[in-house]
Amino acid sequence: MRDKVAVVGSGLIGRQWAMLFASGGYSVSVFDIEPKQIADALEGIHVQLKKLEDGGMLRGTLSAEEQFSLITGSSSLIECVKDAVHVQECIPEVLELKRKIFKQLDDIVSDKTVLASSSSCIVPSLFSEDLKHKSQVLVAHPINPPFYVPLVELVPAPYTKPELVTQTKEVMTKLGQAPVVLKKEVDGFALNRVQYAILAECWRLIQDGVLSVEDIDTVMTCGLAPRYAFMGPMETIHLNAEGVVNYCERYGQGIYNVVQSFGPTPTIDPSSETAEKVQEALCKKIPLDKLQERRQWRDQRLMALAKLKKELD
Ligand code: NAI
Repeated sequence: MRDKVAVVGSGLIGRQWAMLFASGGYSVSVFDIEPKQIADALEGIHVQLKKLEDGGMLRGTLSAEEQFSLITGSSSLIECVKDAVHVQECIPEVLELKRKIFKQLDDIVSDKTVLASSSSCIVPSLFSEDLKHKSQVLVAHPINPPFYVPLVELVPAPYTKPELVTQTKEVMTKLGQAPVVLKKEVDGFALNRVQYAILAECWRLIQDGVLSVEDIDTVMTCGLAPRYAFMGPMETIHLNAEGVVNYCERYGQGIYNVVQSFGPTPTIDPSSETAEKVQEALCKKIPLDKLQERRQWRDQRLMALAKLKKELD
């Protein structure tokens, strides 16, 4: 018999998780408080699985139809999580809602079920501290769209059982994702801490009149990003000198001096002159009513890059 996974919340991310788990051969039950969301989710998943199959990007060994047949909707939370080995919570990013759903799950799951939240930035101890099954809770944060951006950040609470973290890491690897395990809870997890550091410095360079909005994006797309699609900053410095120690000897003091000059963290204020300037420049390039088209453009490119990486590796 196939292991069962419960997906709670069938919005953007719940749908993606349902597809990923089905690709790994799990039987997937999807629950949502809005019954219409479940119907829409199943319809959307069917279309997306076919698209992935047509684009040669379907994961696993089963066909799109076979994977789709593993996914069912459930109109009851109890039914949905019954006998599940893993619950993937995907409801909105509101602490009170997370607390409420985890309390409900706590009352109905077994002592073995992994309780994973998709939260983008809420550390697990904030919504699990008072639960009977708190040692089974962790965050498994995907990146959108997870089929083409495979990182999953696994964030245990201080009391999460290590063997369940290992088990979740193995499940994510089986699905074709790239899990990393944070050794302790930290605000923003890892991806957003790095992303925010970049964003803060880009904001500052625009605010201080050093670069235009277009040029700061070019610094990333034509400078840093091509390398970073294939190797991280640590491997980058290893290759940019005769190893890391040699890199530190050559450039360490200079890096320290530049970082020292950064100054206070800029406020990312929506009513600031900088926000207006960035919005104006971007709306010239992508008007607000063309955002959806541009998202499709982005996803096509991410798919092509994921394909290329698969071929190269
Ligand atoms: P969404 O708004 O698209 O979907 C949320 C779904 O949860 C809706 O269908 C809603 O009806 C349902 N829901 C609300 N309360 C519920 C309850 N008590 N029980 C069952 N279903 C309930 O949200 P989205 O974007 O899918 O986000 C879900 C989680 O994933 C959030 O924690 C978010 O931070 C995280 N996440 C989102 C990413 C994104 O790019 N959208 C990326 C990575 C993580």
